[in-house]
Amino acid sequence: MALQLLVDACHAVLLDDGFDTPPTAAAVSLIRGTIDKIGPDDVALVDEVLFLEETNNGGAGHHNDPPIITCKTVYEWDNFTITVFFLPPGAAMPLHSHPGLTVFSKLLLGSAHVVAYDWVRPSVYTGSGSGSGSTMTMLAEKALDHEFTAACGAWVLFPDSGGNMHRFVAGEDGPCAFLDVVTPSYSPAKQGPCSFYRDLPYDLHPGEEMNDPEIMAKILRNLPPRFKEIVIAIKTLLNMSTMAVVDLMEQIKEAEEAFEEASTSLQHEG
Ligand SMILES: [Fe+2]
Repeated sequence: MALQLLVDACHAVLLDDGFDTPPTAAAVSLIRGTIDKIGPDDVALVDEVLFLEETNNGGAGHHNDPPIITCKTVYEWDNFTITVFFLPPGAAMPLHSHPGLTVFSKLLLGSAHVVAYDWVRPSVYTGSGSGSGSTMTMLAEKALDHEFTAACGAWVLFPDSGGNMHRFVAGEDGPCAFLDVVTPSYSPAKQGPCSFYRDLPYDLHPGEEMNDPEIMAKILRNLPPRFKEIVIAIKTLLNMSTMAVVDLMEQIKEAEEAFEEASTSLQHEG
């Protein structure tokens, strides 16, 4: 019943032609509220939990290495997919992204630690080189670092916010299962491949000897042309030698938000 309510809610608020537009705030709120009512019994988890325990424990205390992670698609439509994932204790889904997709997740069983990041916008490359074989490092900011249990509500990640790149590690306290609603339905041809990443602390860039002023100069050089006046203003009015990278990014973020607001009001007036 709860699962049917979720399917009905998704059909009602996820537009068939909304492939390029994330769901509205009202749609997010409705789907989130409906997912929160779903429990393990609504997606018939009993068989999968038994399968997981037998497969990963070998029936005789033997732990499968690497642990087997399984999933089943519960419902699929053009513009959304509902899937349940099963992880044995301690199993990890490495840091990966869902480009162009909005993903609602709800833990149904066990516990899990989720760490998620979004790219800093506009993009900031701090590594050296480009193309295959070279090191390309992009700045990302942490959006989520949280321990979830089945008692927690659903969380949502959007194409550009909420932690589209995430790592999921099941707790050691028993099997873990979570339900995903992904919209639109994933298509490698449309959204590109799901990519995997390695996260490095900001102060540990291997091979990078740049100090903050050098990183900031590189950031300013790589900004799109529309930031030209902002770059001149920053260089003229601010003391780059005493400024932190995080402060520079804040200034750029504010400028970009101002551009977006101006563009939105122009569109409305048009
Ligand atoms: Fe994911």
